[in-house]
Amino acid sequence: MILVTGASGNVGGQVLAPLLERGIRVRAMTRTPELVRLPEGAEVVRGDLADPEGLEKCLDGVDAVFLMWPFHDAGPMTAVLEAIDRHARRVVLLSSGAVQDGLAPDRHPDPVGRSHAEVERLLRRSGLAWTVLRPSTFAANALWWADQIRAGDTVAGPYGAVPMAMLHEADIAAVAVAALTEDGHDRACYRLTGPELLTQTEQVHIIGQALGRPLRWQELSREQARRRLLDDESFPDSFVDVLLDGYATMLDAPAPTLTRTVETVTGTPARTFHQWALDHAEQFSRR
Ligand SMILES: NC(=O)c1ccc[n+]([C@@H]2O[C@H](COP(=O)([O-])OP(=O)(O)OC[C@H]3O[C@@H](n4cnc5c(N)ncnc54)[C@H](OP(=O)(O)O)[C@@H]3O)[C@@H](O)[C@H]2O)c1
Repeated sequence: MILVTGASGNVGGQVLAPLLERGIRVRAMTRTPELVRLPEGAEVVRGDLADPEGLEKCLDGVDAVFLMWPFHDAGPMTAVLEAIDRHARRVVLLSSGAVQDGLAPDRHPDPVGRSHAEVERLLRRSGLAWTVLRPSTFAANALWWADQIRAGDTVAGPYGAVPMAMLHEADIAAVAVAALTEDGHDRACYRLTGPELLTQTEQVHIIGQALGRPLRWQELSREQARRRLLDDESFPDSFVDVLLDGYATMLDAPAPTLTRTVETVTGTPARTFHQWALDHAEQFSRR
């Protein structure tokens, strides 16, 4: 039995079906079972990583855990790992490409890298078998533009020239499923990227190609973007400056290095951003 945390999220949601197809029993964790629709066959359980004591019932009979970390610090990670250790043997952690090798957690320049590096450190010293996934930018971040694309032909945003290695959530999930179900992934730290570097401006054009209508990028200043994000109720205020600082850093830093780890682990090359846009065309389409 495998416990999938973040089962309602981009990546966890894609882990469920491939596990079920392999005939594996799956328990899907969410804080709100009444609100989410999960694949038939998954056993749905209410759980909250902020409440490690409450995880005991989620972990009963579980052998391995797909663990995503929704917090901006390591918070309850030690208690969560202790709870897992009472039941399961293996954890596959969804970390972040912001984590740098050879750098102590508190020396990481950005908060995302700092918190994920600390979470990884705690997992490594837990005594559990582990595999760490360090994904590059999720293609799914482009869904932040869905309202604008449904409403018109322009996407307004900051830092249009930032290059990103956009990664399909299904590829992250495929690597997670391999690590959860196959031998040979113990103590592996997989740096995952999409197959190409694309600026945000290029991403918008590609979504337009997938939708069959031209789309264009409109550059906003950082201050304009900051005001818009703070006004957006669906975007957490606490993440606004983290995001904008991250873009500013990416603009000055060397472009991300592409890896072929998705293909090495799964046998299939990472999906292109164009494929991702086709897979999500409905979410960008006017109804
Ligand atoms: N976006 C990127 O470009 C990027 C890049 C690298 C790494 N990452 C990392 O990927 C992770 C996000 O993964 P995702 O995109 O698959 O998630 P997501 O789609 O943003 O969904 C968030 C998930 O977190 C769960 N969650 C929130 N609070 C929780 C809590 N207290 N206890 C248990 N579950 C909780 C939600 O579950 P319920 O609401 O159903 O409980 C939901 O499934 C983060 O750790 C992020 O740092 C993101």
